Amino acid sequence: MARLSVDFSGLSLRNPVLSASGTFGHGVEMQHMVDFSRVGGLVSKTVTLKPRPGNPLPRICETEAGFLNSIGLENRGIEAYLRDVVPAVAAADTVVITNIGGEKVEDFVELARLLDSQPAISALEVNLSCPNVQEGKLPFATDPQMAARVIERVRGATSKPVFAKLSPNVSRISDLAVAVEAAGAHGITAVNTVLGMKVDWRTGQPGLHTVQGGYSGTAIKPIALRCAWECARSVRIPVIGCGGVMCATDILEFMAVGCSAVQVGTASFGDPGLIGRLEQELNSLLEGAGIGDVRQLIGSIRVPGAATAKPACSTVPVPASGR
Ligand code: SIN
Repeated sequence: MARLSVDFSGLSLRNPVLSASGTFGHGVEMQHMVDFSRVGGLVSKTVTLKPRPGNPLPRICETEAGFLNSIGLENRGIEAYLRDVVPAVAAADTVVITNIGGEKVEDFVELARLLDSQPAISALEVNLSCPNVQEGKLPFATDPQMAARVIERVRGATSKPVFAKLSPNVSRISDLAVAVEAAGAHGITAVNTVLGMKVDWRTGQPGLHTVQGGYSGTAIKPIALRCAWECARSVRIPVIGCGGVMCATDILEFMAVGCSAVQVGTASFGDPGLIGRLEQELNSLLEGAGIGDVRQLIGSIRVPGAATAKPACSTVPVPASGR
């Protein structure tokens, strides 16, 4: 068996595979389909202070490759999450990360404060990047100062590790990565969905009520990979990759560009059991390549002209044979 466990930012994951927020319920809904002892961790659907009904239908539609969503952060609010979900996830044999969202800085701060006393929750992922609220303007995801302000205030409200989930819908994601690192983020999740849309030329009907929404699935992997790489080479804090991950090979690619763990999102809609099988697939790939420890891959990309690869955030050095 190759070693698959990764440790970063105070988290110890048995393998680098996490569910992506919004694609796996809060996790507990899937326990009849997945053996959680084979999963690195579960990231919840975004939780907000008050319940949200979400956007009007249609709020999800298929495209030629992948799909568009504009759910609008539908959820039952923090009160119901603490009452109904947290006790259930406490029994899950894996790490649990709560994704939090808000419309103003104080919303994030209050959520962080309320979750801080919950031992079942190992970390917070701060959703700075939902494209389907606030008219798609992405205020926290596009302005480094606003992103930093949220992270700084959330850090002040919790002792748990704080991860900033960034958007690919910016011209220079490294500016955001540097800003949230300076504000105290323990890590970065790169990335949320890519803004997109669909229209029927015969009827003029858009695919989504909100017209534009978040595009996800295998087609966005090259975009997500590039964003994750830009983040990883710009900061010292760990990066969690996300976007278009469909198989174990994709996970190892994200690790090669510098990610310490990787989230599986849209693939779970077609195959909810996938996330529980990836551990075995990762092991087979690593064993086949003669690599004994998945951490050897973190940051192992060979950039032409670069003197050395960026040292991985993990303490394991990158041996030449591991590339
Ligand atoms: C949504 O609920 O609209 C999607 C969440 C997200 O993309 O952050």
